[in-house]
Order: sequence, then C-alpha cells, then structure tokens
Amino acid sequence: MRAYTPETITDAVIEQMSTTPDPRLREIMESAVRHLHAFAREVNLTPAEWIKGIEFMTKVGQMCTPARQEFILLSDTVGLSALVNIMHDKTKVEAATSASLLGPFFRENTPTFEPGAQIAKGAEGAEVVLFGRITSAKGEPLPGAQVTVWQTAADGRYDIQTDASTMDCRGVFNTDAEGRYLLRTVRPLGYYIPLDGPVGGMVQAQKRHGMRPAHIHFLIGAPGYRELTTALYIAGDEHLDDDVVFGASGDLVAEIKTSDPACPIKGLPSVHFDFSLSRESVADKLSGRVGADPGQITAGDVTTEKPYGSPPPGVTAEAETKKGGILAGLFRGR
Ligand code: BEZ
Ligand code: FE
Repeated sequence: MRAYTPETITDAVIEQMSTTPDPRLREIMESAVRHLHAFAREVNLTPAEWIKGIEFMTKVGQMCTPARQEFILLSDTVGLSALVNIMHDKTKVEAATSASLLGPFFRENTPTFEPGAQIAKGAEGAEVVLFGRITSAKGEPLPGAQVTVWQTAADGRYDIQTDASTMDCRGVFNTDAEGRYLLRTVRPLGYYIPLDGPVGGMVQAQKRHGMRPAHIHFLIGAPGYRELTTALYIAGDEHLDDDVVFGASGDLVAEIKTSDPACPIKGLPSVHFDFSLSRESVADKLSGRVGADPGQITAGDVTTEKPYGSPPPGVTAEAETKKGGILAGLFRGR
C-alpha cells in the first residue's frame, strides 16, 4: 500500500480523478486541486484553520436566499468576478465598450419603459437624465437594442435589499431607429456592499472600507452582437480607485453635466454615454454573464425576503450620513 506525503498526495488525487469523461471538467478539477494543495502547503494550513475555512464557507452558503447571493459577493470581494470578467472581455472579436461586473443585484423580468421614463419611483434624489447611442464597433446605430439599467435608490440601497417583492430603480429601454436610448433616474450614491454577513465579516477583518463608487449598471443586447454587461462610474467619486469589488475602470467613468445642450430633456443634469457592441462569436453563445439573478441560483419565494445590509459595528451615523451611502439610508430610517 502507498503512503502519501505532502509531495505525493496531489498527483494521487489527480490520477484518481483522471477517469472524468468530460475533458473540461477534468481540466478544471485537476487545476483546482493542484492550486488548492499548493496553497495548503504554502501557508502550512493547520487543522483548526482548515475547519475555520469550512465554517466560513458554510455560513456563506447559509446566507444565500432567492434575493441574496453571498457566494457572488465573496467572488466579487476577492477579485475573482473581476478577473473572470476581464479575461472574458479580452475574447471579444471587435474593440468595443468594456465590460464591468453584473453584481449580485441584477434581476430578471425587469419592467420595460417608454423612452424618457423615470425609473426611480420615489425620485427623492436629484433627477438625472441618461442618454446616448448604442452602436456596432464600426459606429453603426443599433435600432431596437435592449438596454437594461439598474442602480441604487436615493437612499443608496437596491430595491432587492429593501423590499424584494417590488421593483424600483431598474428598467428596460429599447433604442430608436438611430440607436438612441433615453431615460431619467436619480443620482446614484456610492454604497457599502452588504456587510451583515460572513463576507462583510471578512472585509471588516481585513480593515477594508467596503465601499463601491457610485455607478449605474447597464446590460445591453442586440441580435448578432455580444451582450454587454457594464456600468458607468460617476466622475469625482472618492472610491473610483479602490472599489471593494474591483469593478470600476477609467474608461467607464462618466460625468454628470449640469446643462448639456445635447441632452434631449432640458433643465436636468445628464450623463451622455455612447456604448459600442462587438459582433457575437460562436464561443460567445456559450460563455454567459459574470453573475446572475440570485433567484435563478437559489429557488424560493422572493416576497418573503427581509431587508438586508445592516451597518457594520463601529460606523457612526454621522459618518454615514456624510457619505450618503447605504448605511445613511438605514440610519435615517431609525
Ligand atoms: C453591484 O455593483 O451591484 C455590486 C457588485 C459587487 C458586489 C456588490 C454589489
Ligand atoms: Fe451596483
């Protein structure tokens, strides 16, 4: 009988798994085991640390509901989502607008609105117009492209965090004959990612601030083109360079102009951004999005979900109100 050593056990596992008929599954599992074992050897992982890791992953799983995806949040905060996204973006067949994270707050079945509609129900925050064109990589307009937009409400929270049974601050718009989109929303705020779960515990243990810069998500699709998952980051936000989920990038920073003569709705601040899409390749049909509606991953009744994303201990109401982020909304409501 063989006796395993730290040096021989990896190859023994890989040899046993070599019967895996699916070649891609075999490749992924082989590499995952090699790296996992190398990590354990490198840090000289103790049994107590190993069980801590198991407990942490168990809590991450237990936190997942039809409205909350703690595993996506974990992937986001360790930069894995951004890495997969950036690698995928490099495979597009034409130079076009770059991708950004879908994040854990995307929802399927978002309502469709007429051009120019306001997507924020309360609209207590400063109104902002979003407008621009969707084109091919060559600059040809794409009429009938579908533009899905979602963002935080004026209190810095997503609808799904406050009341998962309703939709707010999200909408689907179709481009006109010249490929133009137009909508009204409220000024988004930078916000804390949900810090009341195990991922929040990890972020706080690492003394990270836990903030995302203010942004607006876009998912843009047109037949024959690669779907574009992206976001616009608001110029001037203090966290553009240290986004807790590594999603912000310079080419996606957009300015809110107070009076842009090109804006089709007069008298309101606006963001003008033109997006271009790459032609779709055969591989694109299989590669998917980096992220998903949590309801697609964890089945269940979303209407029974409780609000989530409570303040981290030690954060003062004053500091939060100054920042205007998610916690400010929570404190204001108390
Ligand atoms: C978001 O932008 O919605 C988001 C992305 C990653 C983690 C948390 C939130
Ligand atoms: Fe977001």
